[in-house]
Amino acid sequence: MSKPNPSERKFTIRTWRSRKKRGEPITMMTAYDYTSARLVDRAGINVILVGDSLNMVMLGREGTASLTMDEAIHHCKAVARGAKRPFLIGDMPFMSYEVNQSEAIRNAGRFIKEGGMDAIKLEGGAARAETVRAIVNAGIPVMGHIGLTPQSISMLGGFRVQGRTARTAYRILQDAKALQEAGCFAIILESVPTQVAQLISEELTIPAIGIGAGAGCDGQVLVFHDMLGMFDEIQPKFVKEYAPIGRLIVDALQAYQSEVKERAFPTAEHATDMSEKAWGELQAMLSQNRKEQV
Ligand code: KIV
Repeated sequence: MSKPNPSERKFTIRTWRSRKKRGEPITMMTAYDYTSARLVDRAGINVILVGDSLNMVMLGREGTASLTMDEAIHHCKAVARGAKRPFLIGDMPFMSYEVNQSEAIRNAGRFIKEGGMDAIKLEGGAARAETVRAIVNAGIPVMGHIGLTPQSISMLGGFRVQGRTARTAYRILQDAKALQEAGCFAIILESVPTQVAQLISEELTIPAIGIGAGAGCDGQVLVFHDMLGMFDEIQPKFVKEYAPIGRLIVDALQAYQSEVKERAFPTAEHATDMSEKAWGELQAMLSQNRKEQV
């Protein structure tokens, strides 16, 4: 594994802007714990999203809606301990920002103060613009998320590509512009046709990060467990498995299990022997004990 380059600096809100200006793609990955955050940092990925997808891939629940604020913050803290250079974004759980703006600001603030995040992400387009504005005015950078928005999956009628018709594509473009105008520093475009995503990326001055949105975006994001073959309950078309880590883990666990059963593990290399002197003294003590008991 290549070593991290210590001279590489922290990715900041200014880096987002300069990357967009230079047309240099931004890499983003989810992470939910200390160890995976360290690996993502070590790989040189620019941005970590502590996504609410953790509700499924870490906590084994159906969908993302039942994640709580406390659970999200707990995972953010672990990621912040592990990742030093990537820009860190905490995903606001369903119903943590919809009720009113004060609650949205208070909850967004927890991601920064308690979770150690640099910014928050929330789902929704023009309907969320005022909430975005309020959070940004409180001094917290906000990333938008439009197209397929998993928190409102019941409203959307399932995991399906959004913006396939001219009318719905136009609405997504309007949503993107409303979020930019409200102060978002970037947006995620999830599951929209390639042409629509490219058009939106070109129309915006802020970066648009794609997932299932083709190569024309300003960057890409994937879920850690999906790209490493560790979560097979849902396999969207847009996921590329870069390494079969899930299968390698099962293979390794099975090898361990066989070796334990066959007493092939541990060997001398993984164990510690007592010195002959100490062993002799122990034998002498035990035989003395036995004599005293007779
Ligand atoms: O929660 C998440 O992982 C996300 C990504 C799919 C963008 O929102």
